[in-house]
Amino acid sequence: MDAFSTAIRVASHEQHTEAETSTFMSDLLGGRLGVAAYARYTEQLWFVYRALEDAAEALRGDPVAGPFIRPELMRVAQIERDLAHLRGPGWRESLAALPATRAYADRVARCAATWPGGYVAHHYTRYLGDLSGGQIIRDKAERTWGFERRGDGVRFYVFADIANPAAFKRGYRELLDAIAADDLEKQRIIDECKLAFDLNGAVFRELGEQFPLTA
Ligand code: HEM
Repeated sequence: MDAFSTAIRVASHEQHTEAETSTFMSDLLGGRLGVAAYARYTEQLWFVYRALEDAAEALRGDPVAGPFIRPELMRVAQIERDLAHLRGPGWRESLAALPATRAYADRVARCAATWPGGYVAHHYTRYLGDLSGGQIIRDKAERTWGFERRGDGVRFYVFADIANPAAFKRGYRELLDAIAADDLEKQRIIDECKLAFDLNGAVFRELGEQFPLTA
């Protein structure tokens, strides 16, 4: 197959467009939703990143997933600061996963526990996206709801320890290209990446149902 980093990007391209143009994302980025919708979305991310990052330490020495575990990517502490800002000090008591979020986080946790290649698929889908489109979302959120630039509310999108995101993404793609997996396993990882996009899409759909536009 082509370079693995190319193959996985090309394979998920169509679903990426669907995610970008999903009703919830379009409404959110179009400034048509209130900050409560943004908070609810951020809350869903907490469950997904807990699943990704709770597993990180155990996978650090894994030949397949280990190279991807990087402290500068870790997001849970930043999400928690955002949630404290968005919801107040009692944010933890009101946390609730949507059914689609529960399914997504469970799938990540299951991959982390049983299949390092699958974990890489989820890792790629989230962190490379956050380093890319995440920056567009951050800019929109700052403008729409008046968060301090790169401050409380949007810290999830701020990778303070990654000085050069473009260079980091190049390095990440090199890790993908060097992954310790044969072609069959690479194909399975690509399939899991497509599933990861589906799982994100399902979360967007449920969020969209919760925050319909009052026409
Ligand atoms: C409105 C929302 C979104 C926008 C505006 C957006 C925008 C972008 C842009 C501009 C890039 C290209 C960056 C580059 O070439 O270096 C990108 C890459 C990426 N995005 Fe998104 N994105 C959005 C949502 C998502 C979602 C929901 C996911 C998955 C959960 C996602 C996953 C990815 C991934 C994995 C990449 C890296 C592709 C690669 O180079 O291999 N994005 N995004």
